[in-house]
Amino acid sequence: MKRAVVLIGLMGSGKTSVGRALADLLGWPWEDLDHALVRRHGRIVEQFRRVGEPAFRRRESAMLARCLKPGRVLSTGGGVVLERLNRARLKKHWTVYLQVPPPILARRLRGPQSLARPLLKGQALGPRLASLSRERGHFYRESATFSVRAGRGTALQVARRVLKRLRSFGLS
Ligand code: S3P
Repeated sequence: MKRAVVLIGLMGSGKTSVGRALADLLGWPWEDLDHALVRRHGRIVEQFRRVGEPAFRRRESAMLARCLKPGRVLSTGGGVVLERLNRARLKKHWTVYLQVPPPILARRLRGPQSLARPLLKGQALGPRLASLSRERGHFYRESATFSVRAGRGTALQVARRVLKRLRSFGLS
């Protein structure tokens, strides 16, 4: 079966920028789950405010099912692995966990970056990201075909590293 390449990991791990660069390298179409949710339902902060997180998660799961198409690169939102059915879906594709230490995530998300992310609102970034990493790390590892250390380098450099690993796993 031809598969999708899916990027998972915490907020700020580079899923969007690495996904776009990887799609260019592969010559595949690229989609971003958060962008698709914004196009359909409006801004994510607004969705959390209006319908709450559980309804957002249902929308996210439905959109994942729609976007998981073979031969495309899909960047996801950091919480996509929370739902068991989503993890089962991800395991059928080439799913790459972009692993970044929480202090680096906190540096990347300082300022306006955190305002668009309701789960970071009014929180001290360092401790919040460390606790999300503890809560979700096993879900990312469980869902992923492999992990890539993505705390250093440009998006293109990380994408090249991901591509090399994908080839070693048989992607042609
Ligand atoms: C979330 C991550 C966000 C977005 C939403 C919830 C999470 O996406 O889906 O704010 O639960 O980690 P990014 O990982 O692209 O920031």
